[in-house]
Amino acid sequence: MHPEESAHTDTRLVALGRPVAENAAALNPPIVLTSTFRSAGDPEEGDRVYARYSNPTWEPLEAAIADLEGSEVPGLAYASGMAAVAAAFSLVPVGGTVVVPSASYNGTIGLARELSAGGALVLREIDPLDLAATEAALDGADLLWIESPTNPMLDVVDLPALVAAARERRVTVVVDNTFSTPLRQRPLLVGADVVVHSATKYISGHSDVVLGLLIARDADVRERLLRQRTLHGAIPGPFEAWLALRGLRTLALRLDRSEANAHELARRLEHHPALARVRYPGLPADPNHERARAQLDGYGAVVSIELDSVERADAVVSALRVFTPATSLGGVESLVERRRRHPAEPREVPAGLIRLSIGIEHVDDLWRDLEQALEYATGTTGD
Ligand SMILES: Cc1ncc(COP(=O)(O)O)c(C=O)c1O
Repeated sequence: MHPEESAHTDTRLVALGRPVAENAAALNPPIVLTSTFRSAGDPEEGDRVYARYSNPTWEPLEAAIADLEGSEVPGLAYASGMAAVAAAFSLVPVGGTVVVPSASYNGTIGLARELSAGGALVLREIDPLDLAATEAALDGADLLWIESPTNPMLDVVDLPALVAAARERRVTVVVDNTFSTPLRQRPLLVGADVVVHSATKYISGHSDVVLGLLIARDADVRERLLRQRTLHGAIPGPFEAWLALRGLRTLALRLDRSEANAHELARRLEHHPALARVRYPGLPADPNHERARAQLDGYGAVVSIELDSVERADAVVSALRVFTPATSLGGVESLVERRRRHPAEPREVPAGLIRLSIGIEHVDDLWRDLEQALEYATGTTGD
């Protein structure tokens, strides 16, 4: 269980973060439940001191995610994805300028707007598909936020071009890689500085954990983030970190199956007369398809569909039986949500858009469920 560095990702996922391979050792890291450590020496000597500073249960997960994202320095685990997002914004000096897409995940853009309203930073909102406008916004900025594919519109942005434009201007680039996971996209290798994950989603994979991760490319950025985490205290519980590592072991299998299901459902839904639009970057007709093909190693497991009215969209959600109506995504079970039911959802998201997080059920059961719900809600069949 200690494969070569060149082993396939699927093999590394199984082996990463295991305890040392000695006789009688447990295969899995222990869950260390403690608030403090015996330590009488000099804290600067590297002793463990206090469990807000470090916990041995976080470290296998932090090492594993850094390996997968292609960083030489360990990742950092947080109490939630939003705690990780907030920590990334802390890289911006007070009064500094951040460039953030208006249609980012609503928590991210919501936080940026709050920080800006309180005077902590200056916010320039952009549409990252408009490269020229984004480049102009980067002049004099401190940080560029990128989410790709975006939640829930599934737009794929030109990651290499945006990163290059930011680097030219010495702007720090943070990429939210929650939707793709390191199995489908590795932003640090394209030149991004920091990757964010809501590990609540695909990494944990079973809708039973709330957890965030940051992975920095450089040791000094990691050091600043570690200091911020220690002082602000948004640390994960050891059990959550342990569950996230356990979830990671099956990420390749879960993602392959969910993604294959999503692709097939998107194909079948594409010409359904009840739908105004189907968004999935794997469809050749999707406006971002060519870019997605060039940048991603797979199109992911979220499909967004648009109904022409809120009432019809809500009727579809309530008629589904295999899909569960719930927020979140990335678990083994399929979830459905009309995103604009949240008042905080960006106005760019159409009111009748439904986000489908596709799980690992049999695709025909998911299809039958969608067919009957669309027929019930709109009176139209896909035949
Ligand atoms: C793309 C994206 N980033 C960040 C977050 C925030 O993560 P968490 O809910 O774990 O705090 C989410 C949550 O839905 C998300 O979808």
